[in-house]
Amino acid sequence: MGDATTPSVAFSNASEALSQLGIPDILPTLHQAGVAIKRSILGGSHSVVTYPPLNALSKVEDSSALSSIIRYGAQTSLYIHIAFCETECTFCHYAVRKYRGQEKSSQKKTDDVVRYLSALEKEIESWGRKLHESGTTISSVYIGGGTPLILETEQLRSLLAKICEEFTLVSGIEICVEGSPLTILAPGGHEKLQALKLAGVTRFSFGVQSFNNEVLKRAARGYKRAQAYQACMIVNSVFENWNLDLIQSLYMGTPEEVWENLEILRLVRPPHITWYHGRFAARPQGDWLSVEGKREHFEGELSTLLGRMLIWRTLVDEMGYHQVDGNRFVRDPEFEDPFKKTRTSVGNDLLGLGASSYSHVDERTGQDPFFAGWFFRNHTDIAAYVEAMESGRIPIGTCMPFTPAEHLAASYVIGLRTGRTETEYDRKVAIEEPTLAAHYRTLVGGLEALGLLERFQDGSNDVLHLTLLGRLFEDEILSAFYSPDVLQALSRR
Ligand SMILES: C[S@@+](CC[C@H](N)C(=O)[O-])C[C@H]1O[C@@H](n2cnc3c(N)ncnc32)[C@H](O)[C@@H]1O
Ligand code: SF4
Repeated sequence: MGDATTPSVAFSNASEALSQLGIPDILPTLHQAGVAIKRSILGGSHSVVTYPPLNALSKVEDSSALSSIIRYGAQTSLYIHIAFCETECTFCHYAVRKYRGQEKSSQKKTDDVVRYLSALEKEIESWGRKLHESGTTISSVYIGGGTPLILETEQLRSLLAKICEEFTLVSGIEICVEGSPLTILAPGGHEKLQALKLAGVTRFSFGVQSFNNEVLKRAARGYKRAQAYQACMIVNSVFENWNLDLIQSLYMGTPEEVWENLEILRLVRPPHITWYHGRFAARPQGDWLSVEGKREHFEGELSTLLGRMLIWRTLVDEMGYHQVDGNRFVRDPEFEDPFKKTRTSVGNDLLGLGASSYSHVDERTGQDPFFAGWFFRNHTDIAAYVEAMESGRIPIGTCMPFTPAEHLAASYVIGLRTGRTETEYDRKVAIEEPTLAAHYRTLVGGLEALGLLERFQDGSNDVLHLTLLGRLFEDEILSAFYSPDVLQALSRR
């Protein structure tokens, strides 16, 4: 770990690191090849978290027929979506509804939350029966949203109890719950965290997004820098393992704002940091980019790249963090998030419950060479999800059969984030799908020639990974590997 650097030294080191990569001179060549920092969402999400991307899924006509053929294997991770938040953050495109907790909300809103939780219980029961039949155990639990911490302590306790009752959890399981600074700082928030820990929660995750007051105001987060810091201190006093989300380049974000955030992180030292890059959907909250007069307040590409480099150099060289990928950093490898690996992987199954939650199941048996599994998602509309559960219908709204071709695409999209090693299965699919394999060979060759991808030998494995230059455009490059079919589906949406 190095000594704390002054801002002028840190900025000039980061600029020097960029110029060693050929930035800015190389940018026009990269742009010509379609590689540039993007400010709008990639296939339905602000970063590449899933494959296929959520916007590529097709409408399900008969959800009950689909549900009856889905087969989980020995183990799956579990995600539960709590679709309520105290704030309507201006950048967020998640399926959430505003709710300020039982005491500050109308009876109607409180009743809606109770109805949602009952719907969720029904879904837990129905999948509990199914997983019981297949002998499937749960390897990790993530209760996210939204802001689960807005629920009352009793509601959270009974949700956890229901999960334990209906599913078989592996021993020593990681259970993560999400919150927000406002819910942590609310009266009783600290006690709620302690109660969650007592109830078996092992990890906590929340976002401050920024410690800059101007950015926080524009983002409508409802707190200032001092409260964000205080929330970190409270969480740190309860949980050993916790994650903090930040977003680079939110409205009016700058490299100076990045530096301000780094100065606070030096004091807080969260075990796990996720530092996303702000990308916006054409949704009521997230439509800043399309508003004339606002667009020019977003930082340009060169500033974003400088900010990224400042983050990497300071967290890694100076503060001793391990870099997991372009967005994630851990103080110690023990704090790596096993759930994130599952969420993004196709080889590890995921069962997502609640409105908008997605699931994937790998059903490769080796018998059917043309079928590899399913990717499916519940209704994103909260009312539609609740109504489906209340009337005994399966709430799956969209899906995509996971063909071997899509499996090959996923091996690039997901694999490249931390380094892709070709498996025997990938090689077999490449023989069966020569056109697709040629498409990927050309794509990889082009990106290698631009210095964005390279190969290295790890023991007997040939690993393809992003270079430092490539990592600056990580999500953009990963999304370039969406299969031609998926790209076509996205262009139709
Ligand atoms: C579903 S939120 C859950 C955290 C919690 N509700 C909060 O805001 O503190 C997960 C994270 O996604 C990130 N996020 C949401 N919208 C984003 C966007 N448009 N661009 C980049 N990151 C975004 C934020 O960092 C947020 O903390
Ligand atoms: S960022 Fe978090 S708190 Fe804000 S609307 Fe999205 S999910 Fe809710």
